[in-house]
Amino acid sequence: MKAIILSGGKGTRLRPLTYSGAKQLVPVANKPILFYCIDNIVQAGINEVGIIISPETGQEIKDSVGDGSHWGIKIEYIIQDVPGGLAHAIKTARGFLADSSFVMYLGDNLIGSGIDTFVGKFNLDKPEAFILLKEVENPKQFGVADVSESGKVLRLIEKPENPPSNLALVGIYIFSPKIHEAIERIKPSARGELEITDAIQELITMNCNVESFVLDMWWLDTGKKDDMLTANATVLDDWLQEKIEAEVDQDSKILGRVSIGKGSFIRDSKIRGPVAIGEHTVIEKSFIGPYTSIGDNVKVIRSSVEHSVIMNGSEISDIERMDESLIGRDVRVFKNMTSHKALRLMIGDDSIVEI
Ligand code: TTP
Repeated sequence: MKAIILSGGKGTRLRPLTYSGAKQLVPVANKPILFYCIDNIVQAGINEVGIIISPETGQEIKDSVGDGSHWGIKIEYIIQDVPGGLAHAIKTARGFLADSSFVMYLGDNLIGSGIDTFVGKFNLDKPEAFILLKEVENPKQFGVADVSESGKVLRLIEKPENPPSNLALVGIYIFSPKIHEAIERIKPSARGELEITDAIQELITMNCNVESFVLDMWWLDTGKKDDMLTANATVLDDWLQEKIEAEVDQDSKILGRVSIGKGSFIRDSKIRGPVAIGEHTVIEKSFIGPYTSIGDNVKVIRSSVEHSVIMNGSEISDIERMDESLIGRDVRVFKNMTSHKALRLMIGDDSIVEI
């Protein structure tokens, strides 16, 4: 079995972060989302992996992931010229996939378990398509499956007005090569994309067996800011391991589960876990509260930060209380101590400032 990870797309919902980088590389607990996807695929015993990239962000993904040797596998890159939809991505990867069955994993999805059971069940039952589902509270916002008692998929509906179930499509699928035939038969949707839901629906029309598996752990789509913060908090809560490789002075206090990377300094500060701090970062006269991830080469001085993500190279100083914030790379947030109490801002397109 092979695997493709979809890391192209537009990433419009995560602007402005996605103006300067791929959304699949946005860190969750200081590790890019995409790395969690690769971990899961490798753990399921798959070692032929293709990553679908866009011309805009592909190089950044290649630079960060490399040739796969980090995971002991070989990774191939497949350029999708336009974000023509998930089924279009499969079509683009046809050469790499040849006639193999394959896992399709959306590179911005995080789940609270591995995919080994899912892959094992596909190999046993050998359906033409196998889709991972998750019970959600608001099925109207998702692609939803109508499923028989035995788990056979009867129908798929995109963002239904009257959802037949509360089972949403998680972005992880397994297909037999029959999917290529179905993709050849479908037409672009109203939004101009070749939709995977249409291709799977076509398989059902062709009388192929489409089965499902309901995930009992959490599933997080990381498309928007609040999703990212939830993902960060969940991963810190479930997976963070305590490891302090930094210098912590005597005036500082570390409480709970905290990881701090090499070359970082903690001076006269209090850190209450779960918190992940990267390498070569300085925290001085500050409070870092629970559910916060701070990247590499960051400075936090005389500030309080909670429930937030601060990416590499940023500087926060004299901020009394920062909460539920997502700060990109090389950003500076500081209090102007000299002049009148006006805000002086330089903010990129599509930013959000809440005061
Ligand atoms: P989406 O989140 O559905 O689409 P998007 O990346 O364009 O984001 P937004 O809605 O914020 O504009 O995509 C899911 C995943 O699949 C994501 O990792 C990007 C990837 N993808 C491709 O690789 N090729 C495509 O043609 C599309 C539509 C998505």
